[in-house]
Amino acid sequence: MGRTMMTDEQREVARVHIKADEKVYISDHPLIHNKIAILRDAGTNKKEFRELVNELAMLLTYEATRDLLVMTTEIVTGMNVKAEVQKLSGKDVVIAVILRASLGMIDGVLELLPTAAVAHIGIYRDPETKSPTRYYFKAPSDVAEREVFVIDPMLATGGSAIDAITQLKYAGCQKIHFICILAVPEGVAALREAHPDVDIYIGEMDEKLDENAYILPGLGDAGDRLYGTK
Ligand code: PRP
Ligand code: URA
Repeated sequence: MGRTMMTDEQREVARVHIKADEKVYISDHPLIHNKIAILRDAGTNKKEFRELVNELAMLLTYEATRDLLVMTTEIVTGMNVKAEVQKLSGKDVVIAVILRASLGMIDGVLELLPTAAVAHIGIYRDPETKSPTRYYFKAPSDVAEREVFVIDPMLATGGSAIDAITQLKYAGCQKIHFICILAVPEGVAALREAHPDVDIYIGEMDEKLDENAYILPGLGDAGDRLYGTK
């Protein structure tokens, strides 16, 4: 899969498509905007960057889990009265991380979903072609029976997310969500085209990709900023 760069006209079409599309959710929450503002800043250090990525992951997970199934059950409250309460039902969800940068989000997600299992998918972008290159896949043996949340800070060309979701579908997964902090219209359009059944949760939608397929205005290389590998 090669890199796709859009014309301005195509980008505008994708943008309109996104607004009208009920499976793409772009956050309008002030806390998310404020944290992303600090995250983008070149002066934000590794420690702050890591904390913000986890906090954003938690906030975005809160939005993305709105439709999780619940069941009604009866308990006795601290007031010694019976009450009907709602608890999560079904098998624990799986969080799929795309190595490496998604690891920076996992603690924040697990704060909200502490009993979730974690799938690890090793993919890096080829430096020349920007195509996704696979190097690892490990998911729970019953992943096909579980709802899956794929997380990644960045949706650029969409190649990595598309390939990760393709691998999960090959493993039998049927209900998949994708959560990212930053995206660009061409990445969203590519992901929608490849996997129209997957809903997408985005912190902020950026303008475009540069000639190296980096998001602009963006935040830089998420993995490098998390792990100090520049
Ligand atoms: C980054 C990011 C995504 C991918 C997005 O990972 O975490 O996985 O790029 O780009 P795409 O939408 O064009 O595929 P990267 O390949 O830099 O690997 P790393 O996390 O190991 O640094
Ligand atoms: N991956 C990143 O880490 N940053 C980008 O801007 C694009 C892909």
